[in-house]
Amino acid sequence: MKRALLSIALVSVAALGIGIVGTRPAVAQREGPAPKSTWTTETPKSQGEPRGYVQYQDYCAVCHGAGVGKPGTIALQQKYKGTEPALLADRTDLTPQLIKTYVRNGISVMPFFRKTEISDADLDAIAAYLTRNNKRATR
Ligand code: HEC
Repeated sequence: MKRALLSIALVSVAALGIGIVGTRPAVAQREGPAPKSTWTTETPKSQGEPRGYVQYQDYCAVCHGAGVGKPGTIALQQKYKGTEPALLADRTDLTPQLIKTYVRNGISVMPFFRKTEISDADLDAIAAYLTRNNKRATR
Protein backbone atom coordinates (compact mmCIF):
# COMPACT_ATOMS: atom_id res chain seq x y z
CA MET A 1 0.00 0.00 0.00
CA LYS A 2 2.73 2.41 1.00
CA ARG A 3 4.55 1.65 -2.18
CA ALA A 4 1.49 2.33 -4.30
CA LEU A 5 1.02 5.69 -2.60
CA LEU A 6 4.67 6.50 -3.13
CA SER A 7 4.50 5.76 -6.83
CA ILE A 8 1.33 7.82 -7.22
CA ALA A 9 3.13 10.67 -5.48
CA LEU A 10 6.15 10.26 -7.75
CA VAL A 11 3.98 10.19 -10.85
CA SER A 12 2.16 13.35 -9.84
CA VAL A 13 5.44 15.12 -9.07
CA ALA A 14 6.69 14.08 -12.50
CA ALA A 15 3.47 15.23 -14.15
CA LEU A 16 3.75 18.56 -12.36
CA GLY A 17 7.32 18.90 -13.63
CA ILE A 18 6.27 18.16 -17.19
CA GLY A 19 3.41 20.58 -16.79
CA ILE A 20 5.73 23.39 -15.72
CA VAL A 21 8.29 22.65 -18.42
CA GLY A 22 5.50 22.31 -20.95
CA THR A 23 4.11 25.78 -20.25
CA ARG A 24 7.47 27.56 -20.51
CA PRO A 25 7.57 28.24 -24.26
CA ALA A 26 4.09 29.74 -24.19
CA VAL A 27 5.08 32.10 -21.35
CA ALA A 28 8.29 33.07 -23.15
CA GLN A 29 6.31 33.88 -26.28
CA ARG A 30 3.94 36.15 -24.44
CA GLU A 31 6.78 38.03 -22.71
CA GLY A 32 8.78 38.61 -25.91
CA PRO A 33 9.63 42.13 -27.06
CA ALA A 34 6.81 44.16 -28.55
CA PRO A 35 6.87 44.11 -32.34
CA LYS A 36 8.53 47.17 -33.86
CA SER A 37 6.77 49.20 -36.48
CA THR A 38 7.33 52.57 -38.07
CA TRP A 39 4.35 54.32 -36.56
CA THR A 40 4.29 52.83 -33.13
CA THR A 41 1.25 54.44 -31.62
CA GLU A 42 -0.24 51.14 -30.50
CA THR A 43 2.47 49.92 -28.10
CA PRO A 44 1.80 50.44 -24.39
CA LYS A 45 4.97 52.48 -23.79
CA SER A 46 3.90 55.07 -26.35
CA GLN A 47 0.35 55.45 -25.09
CA GLY A 48 -0.49 59.11 -24.75
CA GLU A 49 2.85 60.12 -26.23
CA PRO A 50 3.33 61.87 -29.58
CA ARG A 51 4.54 60.10 -32.69
CA GLY A 52 8.29 59.48 -32.59
CA TYR A 53 8.45 59.14 -28.82
CA VAL A 54 9.23 55.43 -28.98
CA GLN A 55 11.88 55.85 -31.67
CA TYR A 56 13.43 58.67 -29.66
CA GLN A 57 13.54 56.44 -26.58
CA ASP A 58 15.07 53.62 -28.61
CA TYR A 59 17.79 55.56 -30.43
CA CYS A 60 18.47 58.85 -28.69
CA ALA A 61 17.49 58.80 -25.01
CA VAL A 62 20.48 56.64 -24.11
CA CYS A 63 22.59 59.79 -24.66
CA HIS A 64 20.02 62.60 -24.55
CA GLY A 65 17.84 61.39 -21.69
CA ALA A 66 17.64 62.65 -18.12
CA GLY A 67 19.84 61.31 -15.33
CA VAL A 68 23.55 61.01 -14.75
CA GLY A 69 26.14 60.06 -17.33
CA LYS A 70 24.23 60.90 -20.51
CA PRO A 71 26.89 62.30 -22.89
CA GLY A 72 24.42 64.18 -25.11
CA THR A 73 22.69 65.88 -22.18
CA ILE A 74 26.06 66.73 -20.55
CA ALA A 75 27.48 68.16 -23.81
CA LEU A 76 24.39 70.29 -24.47
CA GLN A 77 24.38 71.50 -20.86
CA GLN A 78 27.93 72.76 -21.41
CA LYS A 79 27.16 74.17 -24.85
CA TYR A 80 24.14 76.23 -23.85
CA LYS A 81 24.88 76.86 -20.17
CA GLY A 82 21.20 77.15 -19.30
CA THR A 83 20.11 79.32 -22.24
CA GLU A 84 18.48 76.20 -23.79
CA PRO A 85 17.29 73.06 -21.96
CA ALA A 86 19.96 70.33 -21.88
CA LEU A 87 17.30 67.72 -22.67
CA LEU A 88 16.52 67.54 -26.39
CA ALA A 89 12.95 66.54 -25.57
CA ASP A 90 12.45 69.86 -23.73
CA ARG A 91 13.73 72.09 -26.54
CA THR A 92 11.36 74.46 -28.31
CA ASP A 93 13.78 75.72 -30.98
CA LEU A 94 14.64 72.54 -32.89
CA THR A 95 13.66 72.16 -36.53
CA PRO A 96 13.25 68.91 -38.49
CA GLN A 97 16.05 69.99 -40.85
CA LEU A 98 18.52 70.53 -38.01
CA ILE A 99 17.65 67.23 -36.32
CA LYS A 100 17.97 65.27 -39.57
CA THR A 101 21.33 66.87 -40.36
CA TYR A 102 22.74 65.91 -36.95
CA VAL A 103 21.31 62.39 -37.08
CA ARG A 104 22.55 61.62 -40.60
CA ASN A 105 25.98 63.22 -40.08
CA GLY A 106 26.68 62.83 -36.36
CA ILE A 107 28.70 65.26 -34.27
CA SER A 108 31.61 64.65 -31.88
CA VAL A 109 30.77 61.45 -29.97
CA MET A 110 27.29 61.26 -31.48
CA PRO A 111 27.40 58.68 -34.28
CA PHE A 112 25.67 59.20 -37.60
CA PHE A 113 22.77 56.84 -38.28
CA ARG A 114 22.33 55.19 -41.66
CA LYS A 115 18.92 54.73 -43.25
CA THR A 116 19.24 51.02 -42.54
CA GLU A 117 19.42 51.84 -38.81
CA ILE A 118 16.90 54.67 -38.63
CA SER A 119 14.63 54.78 -41.67
CA ASP A 120 13.49 58.10 -43.15
CA ALA A 121 10.03 57.41 -41.73
CA ASP A 122 11.46 56.80 -38.25
CA LEU A 123 13.55 59.96 -38.50
CA ASP A 124 10.46 61.91 -39.57
CA ALA A 125 8.73 60.59 -36.47
CA ILE A 126 11.66 61.53 -34.20
CA ALA A 127 11.76 65.01 -35.76
CA ALA A 128 8.00 65.37 -35.27
CA TYR A 129 8.43 64.46 -31.60
CA LEU A 130 11.34 66.82 -30.96
CA THR A 131 9.72 69.76 -32.78
CA ARG A 132 6.25 69.33 -31.24
CA ASN A 133 6.85 72.39 -29.05
CA ASN A 134 8.32 74.57 -31.78
CA LYS A 135 5.40 76.57 -33.12
CA ARG A 136 7.52 78.01 -35.93
CA ALA A 137 9.00 74.77 -37.27
CA THR A 138 7.82 73.90 -40.78
CA ARG A 139 7.09 70.28 -41.50
C1 HEC B 1 26.29 58.21 -28.34
C2 HEC B 1 25.51 59.27 -27.79
C3 HEC B 1 24.47 59.95 -28.66
C4 HEC B 1 23.41 59.38 -29.32
C5 HEC B 1 23.02 57.92 -29.38
C6 HEC B 1 22.68 60.46 -29.91
N1 HEC B 1 23.29 61.65 -29.65
FE1 HEC B 1 22.73 63.48 -30.32
N2 HEC B 1 24.36 64.30 -29.47
C7 HEC B 1 25.28 63.66 -28.68
C8 HEC B 1 26.26 64.63 -28.21
C9 HEC B 1 27.43 64.33 -27.28
C10 HEC B 1 25.90 65.87 -28.76
C11 HEC B 1 26.60 67.21 -28.57
C12 HEC B 1 27.74 67.30 -29.51
C13 HEC B 1 28.46 68.62 -29.35
O1 HEC B 1 27.91 69.65 -29.76
O2 HEC B 1 29.55 68.58 -28.78
C14 HEC B 1 24.70 65.64 -29.55
C15 HEC B 1 24.04 66.63 -30.25
C16 HEC B 1 22.82 66.48 -30.87
C17 HEC B 1 22.08 67.55 -31.51
C18 HEC B 1 22.50 69.01 -31.60
C19 HEC B 1 21.79 69.83 -30.56
C20 HEC B 1 22.37 71.21 -30.47
O3 HEC B 1 21.59 72.12 -30.11
O4 HEC B 1 23.56 71.41 -30.69
C21 HEC B 1 20.91 67.00 -31.97
C22 HEC B 1 19.78 67.71 -32.70
C23 HEC B 1 20.95 65.59 -31.64
N3 HEC B 1 22.12 65.32 -30.98
C24 HEC B 1 19.93 64.70 -31.93
C25 HEC B 1 20.02 63.34 -31.69
C26 HEC B 1 18.96 62.42 -32.05
C27 HEC B 1 17.65 62.82 -32.69
C28 HEC B 1 19.42 61.18 -31.71
C29 HEC B 1 18.71 59.85 -31.93
C30 HEC B 1 18.41 59.53 -33.28
C31 HEC B 1 20.73 61.32 -31.11
N4 HEC B 1 21.04 62.66 -31.11
C32 HEC B 1 21.50 60.29 -30.63
C33 HEC B 1 25.29 62.32 -28.38
C34 HEC B 1 24.39 61.38 -28.88
